[in-house]
Amino acid sequence: MHLTFLVGSVHGNATALAQTLQLSAADLGTTIDLLPMDGLDIAVFDRPGAFVICTSTTGTGDVPDNAQALYHALDAQARYLGHVRYGVIALGDSSYGDSFCGGGKRFDERLQDLGARRVGDICFLDASSTMEPDDEALAWLTHWVTQVPADL
Ligand SMILES: Cc1cc2nc3c(=O)[nH]c(=O)nc-3n(C[C@H](O)[C@H](O)[C@H](O)COP(=O)(O)O)c2cc1C
Repeated sequence: MHLTFLVGSVHGNATALAQTLQLSAADLGTTIDLLPMDGLDIAVFDRPGAFVICTSTTGTGDVPDNAQALYHALDAQARYLGHVRYGVIALGDSSYGDSFCGGGKRFDERLQDLGARRVGDICFLDASSTMEPDDEALAWLTHWVTQVPADL
């Protein structure tokens, strides 16, 4: 199976995490492409395989600046994405209260609006309480890949 990680990051935490997970691709029986979200549009979802939205949150529950173009393209270029299977790794900090992991949640809501189907639960990584985010994310990904339809 092939995975495309779409990475939204302000200060590099989400990018570093995605790079760490990419190192485990062979062990998981996958290949992983990492794409920073900068400048992407909805056409990225025409790629084969499944997708992982790996994004932090900035402002008050906002998507990172480098994710704005793709996030807004999901409105401006809205079309049915029923073929898309995706997972979400959402980085945030629960000290921000109601806006916790808003970046990942926003992508999740918008993709579901367009008919895309999320596989599994969102992986929430809380900077205030997650001691080993790499380990938690790898455990999540290891289980997640088993839930993705094999024919993708
Ligand atoms: C200015 C600023 C605003 C933030 N706002 C939120 C927020 O609203 N909700 C949240 O869950 N985390 C928020 N965070 C926490 C980040 O999402 C978290 O630290 C994350 O690990 C950063 O990853 P990155 O380096 O990939 O951007 C904020 C961080 C900063 C610096």
